[in-house]
Amino acid sequence: MKRSLLILNGPNLNLLGTRQPEVYGTTTLQDIENLCVKHAVALGVSVVFRQSNHEGELIDALHAARGTHNGVILNAGAYTHTSVALMDAIASIQLPVVELHLSNIHAREAFRQKSYIAPVAVGQICGFGAAGYPLAMDALLSWLGGDDA
Ligand code: DQA
Repeated sequence: MKRSLLILNGPNLNLLGTRQPEVYGTTTLQDIENLCVKHAVALGVSVVFRQSNHEGELIDALHAARGTHNGVILNAGAYTHTSVALMDAIASIQLPVVELHLSNIHAREAFRQKSYIAPVAVGQICGFGAAGYPLAMDALLSWLGGDDA
């Protein structure tokens, strides 16, 4: 069976391309999805790419990932820094989650340096812009190990 990865994007990431390009670059979320699909084909895995501006929808998507996907890549946007509910969801689903950010959150405002996702994630990738997405896919597959099971 092919491995399946869920790539989940949180609030305001639908505006990538025009949103603060000095911070996030000019790549759109559609460009990033295309990059991930291309990388998935090269790696021989399935990928589902989603975005929501709503905390509850992100939580529902994490719950639904159980039994459907082998792992999750999560760019939770600003919910990273506020959401105990997302942290609890990750802790409850028994799936590996890689935390991802386009920007280096540790080099930004103090409030962005606190992540509720980090303690329940298998690891974090940040600061590499759109290139972080395929990097996160590689990291998650490496964490999952060699088996296709
Ligand atoms: C972000 C970083 C967050 O602090 C911010 O709220 C975002 C995007 C990133 O990808 O760099 O919305 O997650």
